[in-house]
Amino acid sequence: MSKRIAVLGSFFGDEGKGSFVHHLSSQYDWIVRFSGGANAGHTIYRDGKKFVHNLLPSADFRVATTKSFLGSGMVIDLVKLRDEVMDAEKNYPGVAKRIYVDPDAFLVLPKHKEEDKRLNSHIGSTNRGIGPAYKDKVARTGYRIRDAFRPFNAEIADPEGTIKQLKDLGVQFLSVMDLSNIFHQESILYEGAQGILLDLNHGCYPFVSCGDCTIAGIYANGFAFAPPEKVYGVGKAYSTKVGEGPFPTELHGEEAEELRKIGNEYGATTGRPRRVGWLDLPALRYAIDKGGITHLVFTKLDILNGLESFSVCDTYGSYSDDPTCGDDLHVHPSKLTYRLVQGWKDAGSLEPAVKTFIKFIEDQAGIPVEYVSTGTSTKDIHKLA
Ligand code: IMO
Ligand code: MG
Repeated sequence: MSKRIAVLGSFFGDEGKGSFVHHLSSQYDWIVRFSGGANAGHTIYRDGKKFVHNLLPSADFRVATTKSFLGSGMVIDLVKLRDEVMDAEKNYPGVAKRIYVDPDAFLVLPKHKEEDKRLNSHIGSTNRGIGPAYKDKVARTGYRIRDAFRPFNAEIADPEGTIKQLKDLGVQFLSVMDLSNIFHQESILYEGAQGILLDLNHGCYPFVSCGDCTIAGIYANGFAFAPPEKVYGVGKAYSTKVGEGPFPTELHGEEAEELRKIGNEYGATTGRPRRVGWLDLPALRYAIDKGGITHLVFTKLDILNGLESFSVCDTYGSYSDDPTCGDDLHVHPSKLTYRLVQGWKDAGSLEPAVKTFIKFIEDQAGIPVEYVSTGTSTKDIHKLA
């Protein structure tokens, strides 16, 4: 087992990172979120129940040895965090003591959420205040959690007393450096949020979020001393996207509606119907290089059960037309070439057609697919030889 790994989204988010992280989390001492905020919606199935984590890492809260860390690259709405921790504590008493928050993370304030609603609907923002909070950070007019410990400004006076409430629950506010001796020694799973095509620097600007979705985010949070040895990129057997912006392999009409329904493709954070389309291998090759991905994980193969065949985009015209920047995803759909892939009856049995599909992805991506998932339970996550 690698001592430190990262799990990143390879596309437009919602690839199934949460379930995968949850599955592996008990093997790690720390699950570290390093970017984004409550715009993320990480769906987890635990004890037969569905949970959505927006700010908290996708750790298995039943495991007493696994701790959660919210890194300084995040933007945090303290009221939302308090509610999420209280909810977690209700279901899993004692878990709050295993949650750590870096006080250098920036605050999402009510004004950020209002500004998001006013200004960012054209990109399909989740309205969680993410863009405006990062904007204030970069403009050097933002506030960190540590500023709210001794509020010098009415804006950060923490009227609901959330910091005290979080501390009373057992949450600890400690920075990477406060814990660096421990981080040096213990194992870490870095959990990405969003996906590389939504990365502020490398995604389809301006239809992006604001966090770091590549391995750069890990270093930006101050973890340069603890780099991941393995970087998993998670993708679905087809594609989805919430919000505006280019989506070359998008499906429309009845075909799209059917895939959306079978895949239950409705936003975990906002409930919006997700746009759906076929798997986009040129975009995946771009994400692998930009993200620093070394291994792949493919999820939701079961959603394609029963199809005689399905399509996978292999080029944007030719291999030399692979995207070299986010703008290249504005390619006209008529230029795309597709391979028709043989379908399967039951992905969970890993029948030969599934193996052929995996081999095809590996050949096209140039890196191994190490896991596939074929359902929502832990037993549906298969490690491939
Ligand atoms: P997870 O971690 C899917 C999208 C929004 C919008 C754009 C900008 O669950 O994969 P923002 O509120 O961040 O300013 O919105 O980014 N978006 C996501 N889409 N999954 C996510 O997170 C997303 N986080 C943001 O829909 O298009
Ligand atoms: Mg999501």
